[in-house]
Amino acid sequence: MREFQQQRVLVSGGAGMLGSQVLLSVPDSITAIGTDLKEAPGVEAVGVDLTRQAAVEAMFAEHGPFTGVIHCAAFTAVDLAEDKPELAMDVNAHACGLLATACALLEIPLVIVSTDFVFDGNGQRPYREDDPVGPTSVYGSTKLAGEQQAFAAHPTGTRVVRTQWLYGPRGKHFADTICDLARERGKLKVVDDQIGTPTSTLELAPALWDVLRFGETGIYHAACEGQASWYDFACAAVELCGIEGVELTPCSTSEFPRPAQRPAYSVLDCTRLSVLRGKPLAGWREALSTYLGSEAH
Ligand SMILES: NC(=O)c1ccc[n+]([C@@H]2O[C@H](COP(=O)([O-])OP(=O)(O)OC[C@H]3O[C@@H](n4cnc5c(N)ncnc54)[C@H](OP(=O)(O)O)[C@@H]3O)[C@@H](O)[C@H]2O)c1
Repeated sequence: MREFQQQRVLVSGGAGMLGSQVLLSVPDSITAIGTDLKEAPGVEAVGVDLTRQAAVEAMFAEHGPFTGVIHCAAFTAVDLAEDKPELAMDVNAHACGLLATACALLEIPLVIVSTDFVFDGNGQRPYREDDPVGPTSVYGSTKLAGEQQAFAAHPTGTRVVRTQWLYGPRGKHFADTICDLARERGKLKVVDDQIGTPTSTLELAPALWDVLRFGETGIYHAACEGQASWYDFACAAVELCGIEGVELTPCSTSEFPRPAQRPAYSVLDCTRLSVLRGKPLAGWREALSTYLGSEAH
């Protein structure tokens, strides 16, 4: 792999679940500057609203010159996005365009984090990067628009990394929520007709750095290995946490109607990333065990 010589990288969403982990796993040769709407304990992040062109330009002028950007900030409230499509589009798409324009001017690489929600979920085998997209939610449509705006503004430097089912040391997520509910209630129903891959930010964050440093323009799929339903994920989390006497029952998505439609099947084929890095991300169960056994949990 060719070593990336440049040194000063902007990481957006630095107070979020993924961005904070990206900031905590900066390779030795790089200085990272975090940014977010708000501040987060233990993470240095410059407060900037990325939907505002003047604010983005001022940040590049004041805190640059940047030599690369990893863009993790997003409007991630999937159900709320159905009621706030304009705000979701502003954050998930327009901000990508603004960052891509700024990166194009400097001719620096830009990594945009995207999602399995760009697919309709009717697939029968893991989705490859060039498979047809077809989002079924506002969140998915706005994230896809973000990919497109970034490629349009910076065709030679944009790398899109699509991931899914994230959990990690910071932020609110399924693994911690299910363990808390299991302790409180002892009895839970969990959806078993949506299939994807739980992915730890501890696994994904170093992969984002590799895509920035060694990747090429285009799309990469990035998830832990294997596949699971939310029910499988819940069973593994409860078991690995050592919570005993919990009754977990599988149920269908129709029993838990939500405003946004989720893809029924969204396993990602991550071969391109594995070839780039010489290894896949860890298996989902192994990664979950590492996270639940870590001090960060
Ligand atoms: N979580 C998942 O399961 C998942 C799955 C697939 C893909 N992804 C993608 O992975 C990336 C990281 O997700 P995450 O779960 O780490 O999200 P997160 O925890 O919600 O972090 C996103 C951060 O972006 C900030 N933000 C929102 N609007 C902003 C704006 N206008 N300007 C600057 N910052 C803004 C948010 O601040 P506020 O909290 O104050 O709004 C939040 O701190 C996103 O691109 C997401 O779409 C996530």
